[in-house]
Amino acid sequence: MYSRIIGTGSYLPSRIVDNHELERMVDTSDEWIRTRTGIVQRHIAAEGEFTSDLAEAAARRAIDAAGIDPNEIDLIVVATTTPDLVFPSTATLVQHRLGIRGCPAFDIQAVCAGFMYALDIVDKYIRTGAAHNVLVIGAETFSRIIDWTDRNTCVLFGDGAGAMVIRADEEHGILSSHIHADGAYKELLWVPVGVSNGGAELEAGRAFTRMKGNEVFRWAVNAMSDIALDALKHNNMSVDEVDWVVPHQANVRIIHAIGKRLGVSPDKLVITVCDHGNTSAASVPLAFDVAVRDGRFKPGDVILLEGFGGGFTWGSVLLRY
Ligand code: ACO
Repeated sequence: MYSRIIGTGSYLPSRIVDNHELERMVDTSDEWIRTRTGIVQRHIAAEGEFTSDLAEAAARRAIDAAGIDPNEIDLIVVATTTPDLVFPSTATLVQHRLGIRGCPAFDIQAVCAGFMYALDIVDKYIRTGAAHNVLVIGAETFSRIIDWTDRNTCVLFGDGAGAMVIRADEEHGILSSHIHADGAYKELLWVPVGVSNGGAELEAGRAFTRMKGNEVFRWAVNAMSDIALDALKHNNMSVDEVDWVVPHQANVRIIHAIGKRLGVSPDKLVITVCDHGNTSAASVPLAFDVAVRDGRFKPGDVILLEGFGGGFTWGSVLLRY
């Protein structure tokens, strides 16, 4: 039994912040941001617009595309690092809004690799027969954990959500998933405060992302290249058999470096980071939905998904669409 994607959806908040607006906030330039990252603009959630709102909008689009009744969904998983509340989970908030009752719903947190972790878990539910129609969402309001006076980070991130409806299928679907973590690198990419060690910083609303950008860059390229090769080896496939690569959307230079290492031609790389910046767990399902809706993905295509995030955490999913 395979986990087959039968519908996708995405959502970006209406407010767009372009690089020129950032030029007025920190010592940066449109030219620097474009050449170092490829990012042109990001979408920022409105006041009072939360991760669950973005998640719900993307989920409704995915459910529409799948053509199923929400009540057919028997598992909801949300990958997020920026939940609305400490509890209950964002997944249960979305479940309630969709009018679904009783099915399991939970969040998972693996930062920018979160959607790979979610797909890995969902695939195991489907293969064991524990779930048949799963709603899986990556949603973030990362702007809420960004210091908008720190040019090292504020130019990189944005808000958004992407969703998939995944159904048990005998022919097409996820071929393999591989997820990893190494907690030794905590301080290269982190928010140094949280609920348990919160203190004054948290109370003052200063739970901000800190990052050593160039070290993260090197790690991201190495990890996502290695894991792609592992996925191909596991499936006894060559890189020529891959039709599309949907990498974590953090930086076009990272994406092109991975493409080069793997020997994948640039036109097989799905790149959307220019339009929305790094949306963390939402980035892969967002990019995936764009390529579904513009007709790039055809039934039977072999697609490689990859994520990399704080922790470090990283993972890949290889699927036949
Ligand atoms: N505008 C102008 N100058 C800047 C800016 C900015 N926004 N940010 C940094 N600089 C300066 C630095 O201060 C430095 O100046 P200096 O040489 O005078 O010290 C110079 O630019 C070069 O800095 P580097 O860090 O060496 O630049 P680099 O080419 O590595 O690009 C970047 C920086 C874009 C952050 C890159 O390292 C990167 O993309 N790293 C990966 C980040 C990432 O993907 N993070 C998310 C991972 S996923 C997750 O879990 C969230």
